[in-house]
Amino acid sequence: MRKTIIDIKAAKNATPIVALTAYTAPITRLVDKFVDILLVGDSLGMVIYGMESTLPVSLGMMINHGLAVVKSSSHAFVVVDMPFGSYQESKEVAFNACAKVIKETGCQAVKIEGGSEMAETIDFLVKRAIPVIGHIALMPQFVNALGGYRYQGRNNEEREKIMQDALAVEKAGAFAIVLEGVEESLAREITTKLTIPTIGIGASAECDGQVLVIDDILGLTPKPPKFAKQFVDISKLISDAAESFASVVRSRKFPDETHCFFNKN
Ligand code: KIV
Repeated sequence: MRKTIIDIKAAKNATPIVALTAYTAPITRLVDKFVDILLVGDSLGMVIYGMESTLPVSLGMMINHGLAVVKSSSHAFVVVDMPFGSYQESKEVAFNACAKVIKETGCQAVKIEGGSEMAETIDFLVKRAIPVIGHIALMPQFVNALGGYRYQGRNNEEREKIMQDALAVEKAGAFAIVLEGVEESLAREITTKLTIPTIGIGASAECDGQVLVIDDILGLTPKPPKFAKQFVDISKLISDAAESFASVVRSRKFPDETHCFFNKN
């Protein structure tokens, strides 16, 4: 049975929520049963397409990858990120884009970056049957505005702003919130104050759950962020396989009889 919004909400102060990004069918099939949430993150712009940031990611890209993830999973709750420019203009524009994503992918919720300034939009979406996960503090779509991917909450003013953002997003009706790049005591304070689950990334173990980018845990990211833990290194396996293939082709050992379409066996 696929997880629902009820399961995710119930994880507040309970067993930590496990979330991973997923963008393609093969990886989704492998990780689906181990996680609570599959996030089709707009990080796919950098991870899959080699872009410099998430800013050029289009709605079409998110829909294509969202569809692949929904179709190849059956257990996890699937969330699709709304890409930059698809929801900031107005709440009506946001509704049209989110409804398109939900209709065309079959995902169960969307994720939106932004704090107090997005509260009105979140409220509008939630009242119209679009479940929303918020995303505050370090917001990759604000890379130009923030001057880079900087740790957030460096002084009292920044900390207060992040706390107000968290409260505003919760009040607007988001059912969970991603806290990115905040220090432990602030993550604890927010997690304690909110009644919705916090899902941390580079935000300490003080959150109600954790999310990481799949390529970072697999060892596929050339320069992974400091907070990401690599659990295996499949990059070596992949390059070894490519090297072996190149070698047998060049030495005319491949294909042999058993690997021909019209083989004799
Ligand atoms: O785009 C993404 O992958 C994300 C997560 C890392 C939180 O937003």
